Amino acid sequence: MVRKRVLLFALISIVAAGRNFAQAAPRSEAEVQHFVDSLLGQMTTEEKIGQLSQLFVFDSGEAVEKSVAAGEVGSLLFITDPVVIARLQHLAVEKSRLHIPLIFGYDVIHGFRTIFPVPIGMAASWDPSLETQGQAIAAKEARSVGINWAFAPMLDIARDPRWGRMVEGAGEDPYLGSAMAAAQVRGFQGDYLGAPDHVLACMKHFAGYGAAEGGRDYDASYISDAQMENVYLPPFHAAVKAGVGSAMSAYMDLNDVPATGNRWLLTDVLRHEWGFDGLVVSDADAVKSLVKHGYARDLHEAAVRALNAGVDMEMAQDATAFGQGLAAALKSGEITLQQIETADRRILAAKVRLGLFEHPYADQARITGVLGDPAHRTQERVAAERSAVLLRNENGLLPLKKGAYKSIAVVGPLADSKLDTLGAWAFQEDLSETVTVFEGLKSELGASAQLSFAPGVQITRKFFSFFDKIDHTTHPPPWSAEQQDQEMKKAVDLAAASDLTILVLGELHDMSGEAASRQSLELPGREEELLENVVAAGKPVVLVMLNGRPLNLDWASARVPAILESWYPGTQGGNAVARLLFGDVVPGGKLPFSWPRSVGQIPINYAHNTTQAPEDQGKRYWDVESTPLYPFGFGLSYSQFKFSGLRVSKTKINPEESLDVTVDVENTGCCSADEVAQLYLHQQYGSASRPVRELKGFERIELQPAERKSVRFKIGKEERTYWSAATRSWVVDPSTFDVWVGSDSSASLHTSFEVTR
Ligand code: NOJ
Repeated sequence: MVRKRVLLFALISIVAAGRNFAQAAPRSEAEVQHFVDSLLGQMTTEEKIGQLSQLFVFDSGEAVEKSVAAGEVGSLLFITDPVVIARLQHLAVEKSRLHIPLIFGYDVIHGFRTIFPVPIGMAASWDPSLETQGQAIAAKEARSVGINWAFAPMLDIARDPRWGRMVEGAGEDPYLGSAMAAAQVRGFQGDYLGAPDHVLACMKHFAGYGAAEGGRDYDASYISDAQMENVYLPPFHAAVKAGVGSAMSAYMDLNDVPATGNRWLLTDVLRHEWGFDGLVVSDADAVKSLVKHGYARDLHEAAVRALNAGVDMEMAQDATAFGQGLAAALKSGEITLQQIETADRRILAAKVRLGLFEHPYADQARITGVLGDPAHRTQERVAAERSAVLLRNENGLLPLKKGAYKSIAVVGPLADSKLDTLGAWAFQEDLSETVTVFEGLKSELGASAQLSFAPGVQITRKFFSFFDKIDHTTHPPPWSAEQQDQEMKKAVDLAAASDLTILVLGELHDMSGEAASRQSLELPGREEELLENVVAAGKPVVLVMLNGRPLNLDWASARVPAILESWYPGTQGGNAVARLLFGDVVPGGKLPFSWPRSVGQIPINYAHNTTQAPEDQGKRYWDVESTPLYPFGFGLSYSQFKFSGLRVSKTKINPEESLDVTVDVENTGCCSADEVAQLYLHQQYGSASRPVRELKGFERIELQPAERKSVRFKIGKEERTYWSAATRSWVVDPSTFDVWVGSDSSASLHTSFEVTR
C-alpha cells in the first residue's frame, strides 16, 4: 500500500514538474479519488480525526507546531506571514507521518494587499466580470504568500441594513446576488480548482444569516420555506453551479435549528438536492456554540451533531470539539468510521485538487512582485470608479470643473482617514499606499486649487469592535465638549470661506461588518449637524458617502445638490472619487438595495408581495411615504439615457418555452457613459402570491453620446420557476407576466406575455 501511494505521488510530481504551484489542467476525478483512497488506507483513526480540525491562530507557537507535526490538524486559519506559513508547512510535510500538507485559510474578502471596494460596493457595479477580476487578483496575492483558501464569497441576502454584515454581501436581491456569487467563485478558483494563482473559494454563511432578527448580528433567523428557497438560497445554489469548492455553515439558529447542526441545510439541500461535493467547514467556534444554543448537551454531543448534520471540518480557536469528542463518539457507536472518512475524503480531495501535495510551498521569490504589482492597484481604482453610485446631482453641479474653484474645503471625519477608506475585513493592506479622498483630490487638482481639510466631528462606536485588536485600530482620546464645538466651527468657517465644500461622511470602517449592527441608520455622532451647518454656510456642497449600508439621507436628499455613494472604495479609493467628481470618469453604479427613508421602514425590499392597497400613500404608514428614498437599482449618470421599443419575441408561450425581450437604449446626454438595463418580471396570478416585480436580467452597457444599442434578455423556464408555498414544490405556472425594463426597479416601460397551459 505504501509503495502504491509513493508511486502515485511520484507520478503526480513528475506530471506537475515545472508547473507553477498548481496544475495546468484539472485532475481527473479517478486520479483524485485514487490518491485519496490510498492515503486514507494508511491513516490512523487519530490522523483521520486530525484532518477535520482547523485551528484559528494568529501565529505559530509550540502547541500548534506540535499538533501539526503530529498530524492532528488539517488546516490553519489566520496566519499570513509567508515565513511562518512556510515553516508550518515544512513541519506538516516533513515531520508528520504521512506528509499531508496543511491548507491555509484566510478571510480574503475584498482583497489581500490590494483592497478592493467592499462587496456591497462591488455589487453596485452590476458588473460580474469586474467581480471576477477583483477576486482573481485577491486570490493571486493571497496564494503568493501560501494561503490556499479564501473564506469568501459571502452570499447572505440582507434586507435589514441594521445588520452590519450587509457590507460583505451583494444586498437584497437573489438574482443580482446569484450573478455576483458565480462571478466571485470564478475569480477565486479560476477555470478549475487548482488553477495556477487561484485558491479554494468558500461560500458563506450557509444559510439565512442575513435575516438575523432585529438585524442583531448572530441572532436567530426565522425564514419561511418559500423565502428560504426563493430568496436566501439561490445565491448559494448559483455558487454550487459555478463549482465552488467549499461552504461555511452559519452561526445562527435557523427556524430553531442551528445552521451548524442543521442536517436539512448541510446534507439534504446542499448535497442531496444540489449535488455539492466540496467540503463544509463550520464558522469559527460554531460547533462548540451548539452547546450555547442549547442544542447539544456538551462538546462531545456538539461534535456528533455537527458531523451528523454534514460539517466536515471544524474551525475553532485553540482546540476543536471534533478533536476532543469524535474518538469517544466512534467508540460508543454514535458515529461511524465511514462518516469520518467521508469528511476526510472531501478535505483531502481539496488538497489534492489544489496541487498541495506536489507544491506545498509558496515561491518566496515571487511574493514581492505579486503583492506590489501596479496593475492590481489600477484595476482596483477602476473597480472603485465602477462601483460608485450617483444619488443626486442638481443643476449639473457634477462633474466639477477644474479651475472653477480656487479654494476647496474637504470636510468630515472620513475625508482623510486611510482605514476608513478601506472598510471592514482589510488586514494585509499597506496603509502607505492607501489613498484617502483628501489625498486623491490633492493629486487630481495639483496647484489648480487650494485644498484645506477639517474633520468637523469625531465619530465613535458606543461599544468598541473586537476587530480593533486585529487591525490595530487605535482610538484617539475623545474630544471634550468644548473641543467638539471648536472643531465644528472650524469646519463650518472653512466651508464658508471656500468656493466649494466636499463633505465626506458615513461610518468608520468598524461600524459596518461583523459584530457591527446598529439600531439606527442616522449619520453617526454629530455628522448630520455638520452636514446641515455646512449647507447653511451657503456655498456649493458635494456629499461623498463612505459606508456599507444605507444611512438616513432624508434631509440631504432634498438639500445637498450632489451626493455620491462611494462605499468603502479601497486602496485607490481617493483617486477614484476625485476622478469621478471631476468627470474623468462617469458614475454608472446602481444601488444593490432599496434605500429607506428611515429605519422604521425596514424591511423595504422592492420585491415584496402586493397588498390590499399597494399604491395608496398614507395607507401603509401615515407618517412617511410607502416608497424608499432611492429605489433598488437606482443610480444617476452625468449623461442621460432613453429606453424605448420594448418588445417580446412571442406574446404567448407554453410553460416549457422561452422568449426574448428586447429594448433599445440610447445615450441622449453629454458624454460617453454606462447604463445598466434592468429587466423586472411579475407573475399576475398562480399557485401562490408572487412579488410585485423581480429582477430577472441586467446588462451594463457603455454608450457614446447619441449612440443607441439594443439589449436582449431571455426569459426562460428558469426565470419563471419558483418554490410555491401552496404546492410545497418548484412550479412554473401558466399566467400573465408583466415585464418592465429600465434604469431601476421603478421602471415604467412595460409589456406583457402569456404562458398558456
Ligand atoms: C467569523 C465570521 O463569521 C466568518 O465570516 C469568518 O470567515 C470567520 N470568523 C473566520 O474569520
